Amino acid sequence: MTYDRSRHPSYLLPLVLVLAVIAAVPATAGSESVSLPSPALDSEFRHPAPEVVELGRMLFFDKELSGNRNTSCATCHSPVLATVDHLSINIGTGGQGLGPLRDAGAFPPTLHDPQSRGSRNMTPLWNLGHAQFEKLFWDGRIQVDPGFPQGFATPAGPDLPFGIEFALDALSIFAETDIQEMTGQPGTNELADASLIHPQIGVWDGLVARLGAIAEYVDLFVDAFPAEISGAEDITIVHVGTAIGSFQADAFRSDDSAFDRHLRGDKKAMSKNAEKGMKLFYGKAQCSSCHAGVFQTDHDFHAIGMPQIGPGFDPPEDFGREDFSGDPADRYRFRTPSLRNVVLTAPWGHNGFFNTLEGVVRHHLDPLNSLLNADPSQAVLPPREDLDALDLIAFDDPTITAAIAAAIEIDPPNLSDKEVGFLLDFMEALTDFSAEDARKTVPTRVPSGLPLAEIN
Ligand code: HEC
Ligand code: HEC
Repeated sequence: MTYDRSRHPSYLLPLVLVLAVIAAVPATAGSESVSLPSPALDSEFRHPAPEVVELGRMLFFDKELSGNRNTSCATCHSPVLATVDHLSINIGTGGQGLGPLRDAGAFPPTLHDPQSRGSRNMTPLWNLGHAQFEKLFWDGRIQVDPGFPQGFATPAGPDLPFGIEFALDALSIFAETDIQEMTGQPGTNELADASLIHPQIGVWDGLVARLGAIAEYVDLFVDAFPAEISGAEDITIVHVGTAIGSFQADAFRSDDSAFDRHLRGDKKAMSKNAEKGMKLFYGKAQCSSCHAGVFQTDHDFHAIGMPQIGPGFDPPEDFGREDFSGDPADRYRFRTPSLRNVVLTAPWGHNGFFNTLEGVVRHHLDPLNSLLNADPSQAVLPPREDLDALDLIAFDDPTITAAIAAAIEIDPPNLSDKEVGFLLDFMEALTDFSAEDARKTVPTRVPSGLPLAEIN
């Protein structure tokens, strides 16, 4: 509808505008004037000092941070695999190899083996240095929270040290304290033994002692924090977290996709089909009611009926946000994932149930049927007899499935196959091609002298 301002007396203008808006609504759905987010601004990202980033890079890739010196952050968050491992559920200490080739350790398990699979699918590390990302993990169990004097709610509660500035930095001192991910079994190393006395503090102290004993690290800490550190005795776990967080914020910033270029004004950046998908996504398909904004997330928690495989966070299942909030209404709610570089981060969902992007998108269109007819054989779970026995306990339990079904809170849109195809084209356009291979972030060696390579 068009109208010529000059023909209407001005007192009628407000009414005419209201009518114009009402008339425009049906026309906008799926077509031209869908409201798109503003582009991400450079000033909204962290810009840590290069010396801090460099220290963080060494720490991120150094197996010295794990109890048995066999796992680094990059073992799971591999920069050559888009900061994930391509497994449905990770295999931590005791596994061998990288990504989908990783094995699940020996059976019968030895002391060094992972106690279990992890609980959840890897969350990628893209854009976590943007100011929006204040809640982390699938359940947001690390988040900015002014209710705590330290400024963050974390599993350490009141024992979190003071002085942490960002949720990402707080999170970066927790993988080291996770027995399955990095610490290893008590009885096998001093960090794991310390975790028996206090789940975090002993491990943090032990880790700082390890790093302080490596002269090259001491120099790097002094360079990174000259005002605070002049020798090994000044290093704290807060410096460790700040450095690792700073590295991730810097290395995994990923806001140069075709979609970003489109938002910044390059109207030729996206293919016509991807543009159609974008308009559906932010319009008629209502994806953006949860996957909101420039990073496709409202940073909130929703239950969408994802089938449960693996041991879960609360074996044999996973209650999601409820574990953090204590509110039964939050059961099976998980954080809306950002969809940046999503085509690169298979498998998808909080436990990696879906091994095709189309599969997880279509799940949203009919979650109940998808849940009831789900095919668990698509999961990517390196086999081990005792672990396999746990993988389908929740999936095969009709009571659990019924409870997951009852919690579904998505209002499925009605989309044609063609429209689903456009949405998938849009997701391609969310790829920043530098993310396909972030090998340039990998150092050639680390101060501990431990090997970097996972490929064997
Ligand atoms: C054994 C595999 C493994 C290792 C090793 C590991 N992580 Fe993770 N990481 C995961 C998994 C799985 C998740 C998601 C867990 C969840 O949400 O409950 C995750 C989540 C994260 C997140 C949250 C991202 C988000 O958007 O919420 C960050 C940041 C992170 N890891 C950083 C690190 C750092 C830093 C290290 C090393 C100190 C590390 N990880 C070591 C498996 C691993
Ligand atoms: C009601 C909120 C909601 C709506 C609407 C919604 N999603 Fe999701 N989406 C989620 C949540 C929450 C998850 C993670 C759920 C889980 O794993 O338990 C998710 C997961 C995904 C994933 C997997 C991402 C990953 O990294 O694992 C994709 C892809 C996705 N959604 C695309 C879409 C598309 C396309 C639409 C529109 C057709 C849409 N979503 C609508 C909440 C929503």
